[in-house]
Amino acid sequence: MVPKAELHCHLEGAASPDLVRRLAARHSMALPDETFDENGNFAWSDFLHFLKVYDIASSVIRTPEDYRDVTYQYLMDCAAEGAIYVEVMSSPDHAAAVGMSYADHLEGIVAGIEEARSESGIEGRIIVTCVRHLGPERGVEVARQVVAHPHELVTGFGMGGDENTYSPHDFTPAFEIVHAAGLPCTAHAGEVAGAQSVRDALDALPVQRLGHGVRAIEDPDLVRELADREIVLEVCPGSNIATGVFENYSAHPLLALQEAGCRITLNSDDPPYFDTSIGREYDRASTLFGLDDDALRRVTLTAIDGAFADPETKEKLR
Ligand code: HPA
Ligand code: ZN
Repeated sequence: MVPKAELHCHLEGAASPDLVRRLAARHSMALPDETFDENGNFAWSDFLHFLKVYDIASSVIRTPEDYRDVTYQYLMDCAAEGAIYVEVMSSPDHAAAVGMSYADHLEGIVAGIEEARSESGIEGRIIVTCVRHLGPERGVEVARQVVAHPHELVTGFGMGGDENTYSPHDFTPAFEIVHAAGLPCTAHAGEVAGAQSVRDALDALPVQRLGHGVRAIEDPDLVRELADREIVLEVCPGSNIATGVFENYSAHPLLALQEAGCRITLNSDDPPYFDTSIGREYDRASTLFGLDDDALRRVTLTAIDGAFADPETKEKLR
């Protein structure tokens, strides 16, 4: 099996429908019927509706133990598919929405990573993310919490959420707080918005990587700049097709970006929502993009090069 590495998965979005139902029962919560479809999968219609259902499902994650369970289950599933390294994005704003402190959410995630590592050998790291549509003040607050609670497994900072609200420039102060503390950064751009959104993120934020970034393909100069600056792209093809960014695999620019010299990695984003997993992303890259095992091993090496882990860990993973 080709070893796999993942840089882009939202932890709250990695909880399976079964686990979400179990956590809801643990807290005697009733989720709205329309959260699930007739097969018990998450039900959503477009990107903004996906973000809403994601918020509803995330509201069952309420204690450190819940965060531990989501993290442990996700990493063990990844390990079973041959993943050796996974970065999970955590969202203190989702924790705060259910009354959980930053420290409590972190404690649970760390426990999940450590237990999964001791049972399977998989390495996990945490990218703490702010949520763009919640606004720059929340972003600064999350950044301050990251710096106030340093932890060896928190190795980066990022931003998700609705790319069509606010501008990356609004979040420069938040990113500067964590960047000044020495943490590397990534941000979603070029997913639901086009090349200008990628350009804005590169201009405004101290990012070494981009979440998605794929719509940079609309501007050849920008593609060249991504290649020249060796920006690592956290590409999530299954997610892009599920949310309608591209119609199908033939329309997806992964190969074109790679041929233009961009650094490409494969990622699942929010696996149960998008009917995917890190294993399935690698499988589909093989069958639908035609990447052979050597090419897939190079994708994994690109992910390890771009990982926000310490150099010794990265060397061991290579
Ligand atoms: N895109 C942007 N923000 C998100 C996503 C996503 O796929 N999942 C959770 N937050
Ligand atoms: Zn994402």
